[in-house]
Amino acid sequence: MATASVTKASVEKPVQAQAVEVNAPTRREFLYYIWGASIALILGQATAGLIWFSLPRFKAGEFGGTFTYDAKDIPEAGAAPRNIPAGRFWLSLPADEGFVALYGVCTHLGCLPKWVDTNNRFECPCHGSKFQLNGRYIEGPAPRSLDRFKTRVIFEDGTTADTNDDGDPIPLNGKKIARVEINTGARIRRNGQV
Ligand code: FES
Repeated sequence: MATASVTKASVEKPVQAQAVEVNAPTRREFLYYIWGASIALILGQATAGLIWFSLPRFKAGEFGGTFTYDAKDIPEAGAAPRNIPAGRFWLSLPADEGFVALYGVCTHLGCLPKWVDTNNRFECPCHGSKFQLNGRYIEGPAPRSLDRFKTRVIFEDGTTADTNDDGDPIPLNGKKIARVEINTGARIRRNGQV
């Protein structure tokens, strides 16, 4: 009979996929997830900030960083200062005073004073302020002397001297300069016209 030839497999019912029950997170679990994600975000931001602050912000030789010069790059005592446009400063060696790195921006309204050999002083082309070789105010509307940068002088005998808090020229005391390191990230404002 035809019905006797039907195999057992052909009459088995198809296997139904088992439904997997997924429970929606409870309100408490949901808040835990949000809380955990927030903590992770805050920690990530704090870590990134820490790394960013620990990295040097400026490279050597770029404004904001440190510039290094050998003795041959520094003007003779009392000679005209040397302009360093990349660092926005002047290398200056006023006789009997020592070495100073002067910020090349006028303290009045920010023009760039030029060194005028014939008058032996800096003169600002905008409103006529004038400054000595050591950066001291002479005359004009500028409210104070030229600012200067913190500097370290390394002498030939291996000793060093740093700019004081007032930014005065670093005395040489008869020693010879081997090199200077000028930190353009540390500007010293002079107080008043001195
Ligand atoms: S900007 Fe130099 S005198 Fe005014």
